[in-house]
Amino acid sequence: PAVDQEPHDQDVEVELPSGITILKALDMIRAEKDPTLALRQSCGSAICGSCAVKVNGHARLACKTQVSDCTTNGVLRVGPIGNLRILRDLVVDIDPFLDSLNKVKPYLVAGNGAAPELERQQSPDEFLKIDPSTTCILCAACSSDCNVLEVDENFFGPATLAKAHRFIFDSRDVDTADRMRAISEKTGVWDCTHCGECSTRCPTETKPLERIEEIVDNKPKPEYDWR
Ligand code: FES
Repeated sequence: PAVDQEPHDQDVEVELPSGITILKALDMIRAEKDPTLALRQSCGSAICGSCAVKVNGHARLACKTQVSDCTTNGVLRVGPIGNLRILRDLVVDIDPFLDSLNKVKPYLVAGNGAAPELERQQSPDEFLKIDPSTTCILCAACSSDCNVLEVDENFFGPATLAKAHRFIFDSRDVDTADRMRAISEKTGVWDCTHCGECSTRCPTETKPLERIEEIVDNKPKPEYDWR
């Protein structure tokens, strides 16, 4: 933004070996064509969630996506993820995404009882309820393609609602009521249009829409009922 008023595409021609990811291709562009190209990355293994970008218009993890799967006639379009302000090139301001997460206390509230000597245990069945939502890597791919966030930046967003699910359904957590109250507010869970873009773009098993539907359709714990 210090140089250009509006974001714009820029063509880069580069010879790529076969069998490489988009992240490797971006690294090659930085090494061979444009060392100023800004992007985020860390693990290179679909774990840290840093490298989400738009590929041909939709959010993907650059380190988990093969160039050959997305190239048509030798052309591939990469851009910053959507619904967040662009800072530079492929880097967006992630702060609003993280601020939204904080609305649902993204941590275990274990109550005031004496801490157990070892870990706080749960049964395999109890864990299976939160298994999918624990796989979220906070890459913001779901937020990028969320149709509601596109028109309402105050919407909690799919990642925040999936994070709420992760603790609402956790048998060890005692703050279910607070979180359910928070997501029941305006711009919370009831503003989701169930379009499913978030689950389509999610690179993990989190699949936010499914988690949102579980929150709305089920009693997370016997003492709580929406209806
Ligand atoms: Fe960590 Fe891609 S670099 S998820």
